[in-house]
Amino acid sequence: MLILGIETSCDETAASLLKIERGKFKVLKKVIASQISLHNQYGGIIPELAAREHIKKIIPVIEKALSVKPKLIDLIAVTEGPGLITSLLVGVETAKTLSLAWQKPLLGVNHLQGHLAANFLKETPSFPALGLIVSGGHTELILLQDYHHQKKIGQTRDDAAGECFDKIAKLLGLGYPGGPIVSQYAAQAKPNQIKTKLPRPMIQSKNYDFSFSGLKTAVLYTIQKRKAFLQNQKFIAEICYESQQAIIDVLLKKTFRAAQEFKVNSIILGGGVIANQELRKQFLIQAEKMSSSPKILIPPLEFCMDNATMIAVAAYFQYQKLNSLKKQNLKNNWRKIKANPNLEIEES
Ligand code: KG4
Ligand code: ZN
Repeated sequence: MLILGIETSCDETAASLLKIERGKFKVLKKVIASQISLHNQYGGIIPELAAREHIKKIIPVIEKALSVKPKLIDLIAVTEGPGLITSLLVGVETAKTLSLAWQKPLLGVNHLQGHLAANFLKETPSFPALGLIVSGGHTELILLQDYHHQKKIGQTRDDAAGECFDKIAKLLGLGYPGGPIVSQYAAQAKPNQIKTKLPRPMIQSKNYDFSFSGLKTAVLYTIQKRKAFLQNQKFIAEICYESQQAIIDVLLKKTFRAAQEFKVNSIILGGGVIANQELRKQFLIQAEKMSSSPKILIPPLEFCMDNATMIAVAAYFQYQKLNSLKKQNLKNNWRKIKANPNLEIEES
């Protein structure tokens, strides 16, 4: 089976051609046009600019990813949400047009489901599994009895962890996206000499929800007290180190407490923040310390950040679940699919 995946939920225009043979995935082609340099000059994403850029890039990106004749494609998959509405619309409308023109079935995919599905490219986790999605817009804990039976058990009540990295970087005048820059500065800090202490919001709360806006505000107050220090590289490195560790501490604590309570066999990580090397390392170390030692699955870096391969993988599982009548009807699905900026992971 051949699936063409399309992703435009935020600031990456991406297309991927995925082959599935006897349940094994093979990425035939993957193309990503990143808009980082465009948004970097504004210190964050400007939705209008993102949408215009998607319009410029979407056809060239799909053409590049199409290493086979369109008639050989079995399914088109597109991110329908969550994300920026104007960005989503470009991918969704393009996919609908291709579905109609090529007479190919079309499936709409949840972007967050895609982040979890990225883990299945290499191997199928042992269930029950706990999914942690940490991106620029979301921080969620999902319990999976198997791929088709999922339940959200916690989420952020305000800012997402990635958003917190981005806002802290902005406060420090470091540019966008914040995560990779903050982690670079953090690596320069000397852990035993850190004087600044930042809060670990909700780390002791009994539920599995998160909150990161207070951490950002704590950084703001720290900077306001010592404005002159913003010229001091050592101070910047210290704030970056402490912010990153505060975020990791909360994610670790809540995830492993849930893993213990729900007796999961594996923990699957997904989303842009999972590209953070320190976070990856600390999750692996923590898993070894647990008596149940759940297996940690982490996608390769390229599949943590937004990409279209993960959308094609999620579409494959969605397709498997449909009965043959519904599969036939997918050719007319272009009439029904709508971009939805607030799409949630469905409980099943
Ligand atoms: O999943 P993603 O590519 O897009 C969304 O769905 O939002 O995630 C983007 C987020 C941004 O907030 C970015 O700062 C963060 O992922 N990020 C990182 C790292 N690389 C990207 N955060 C921490 N450390 C990183 N190395
Ligand atoms: Zn994402």
